Amino acid sequence: MKRILVTGGLGYIGSHTVVALQKAGYEVLIIDNLSNTSIDVLQGITEITNIPPTFERLDLRVKNDVTSFFERYNNIDGIIHFAASKAVGESVENPLLYYENNVTTLIHLLQECKVHGISNFIFSSSCTVYGEPDSLPIDEEAPIKKAISPYGNTKQISEEIISDVCNVSNLNAIALRYFNPVGAHPSGLIGELPVGIPQNLVPYITQTAAGVRKELSIFGNDYPTPDGSCIRDYIHVVDLADAHVKAIERLIRAENSTKFRVFNVGTGMGKSVLEIVSAFERVTGETLNYKIVDRRPGDVVAVYADTKKANDELRWKAQHDIDAALASAWAWEKKVRGID
Ligand code: WQD
Repeated sequence: MKRILVTGGLGYIGSHTVVALQKAGYEVLIIDNLSNTSIDVLQGITEITNIPPTFERLDLRVKNDVTSFFERYNNIDGIIHFAASKAVGESVENPLLYYENNVTTLIHLLQECKVHGISNFIFSSSCTVYGEPDSLPIDEEAPIKKAISPYGNTKQISEEIISDVCNVSNLNAIALRYFNPVGAHPSGLIGELPVGIPQNLVPYITQTAAGVRKELSIFGNDYPTPDGSCIRDYIHVVDLADAHVKAIERLIRAENSTKFRVFNVGTGMGKSVLEIVSAFERVTGETLNYKIVDRRPGDVVAVYADTKKANDELRWKAQHDIDAALASAWAWEKKVRGID
């Protein structure tokens, strides 16, 4: 049984990927420092798969703890690295936290790959690296623009570090550039657990529908788009998890055509904020309180993926539509809030 280390494996995308890996027959080790999740997620994973993953609470910024972990667990066939801070706004206010947590931890892991001969590495990247696209849909050859936030910059820097290391070592790597992950596992046992006020659209919508938030603020309807609100590519987190399984399988089979490959992971379809709101109301029957407010600084007008490369090379394609994603997000919110 191949053994995969998942860092940030109790997080939103990480936990869904752990479930998909276990169902695909992998042994999973999880490292998480629980800074942005709950230990209860481990129970949720175990209830879904009946396979309790090995879990160690560890902060990847502490080099000695990382070294000790890899001395205790050998024969790791691959690493999927999710553990990172991911709030764009917070990164602007506290850049050093982001450079330390997102870049230093990557370096610690890559150093262990070198020491222990671990040659398969999947990196959690983001469409944020593209900034405001010049044309849509956006493909992997699009120019990487100057990051508009330290968070986005850590993703750009991390991709470059991994590429440079691949060039001079036996490391083979894939960076998956996520678009907008949404939804929850159909079991209702794991999902998104935003800490505090949700920064992202869909959890804010579901918390508003659940009465946790008074109303949704829509950040601008005066953009140059058909209905004036921003356009994004919302991808079901279960589809995103499956993309990681396809990617690690490709590395383990040594099928990467070059040592470092980058793939967009989205649906290829753009939806506006107002379209998401109306789809949510249609799918759930709930009426959403919302108001239009000023634009949010740093928002790009529109971004959605050209997914041809992932479709062809990873033989992966998103299977769920936005209705299924929103329905699962709402089911999860009701579960968390104890709403029937
Ligand atoms: C989507 C749209 C908002 C909240 C961010 C990160 C990206 C990735 C995904 C980590 C925008 C609008 C939102 C609200 C709103 N994260 N919105 N009211 O900004 O596209 O991407 O999360 O990898 O790196 O940048 O996602 O969900 O915050 O916003 O109107 O309360 O919803 O203006 O147009 P975003 P988002």
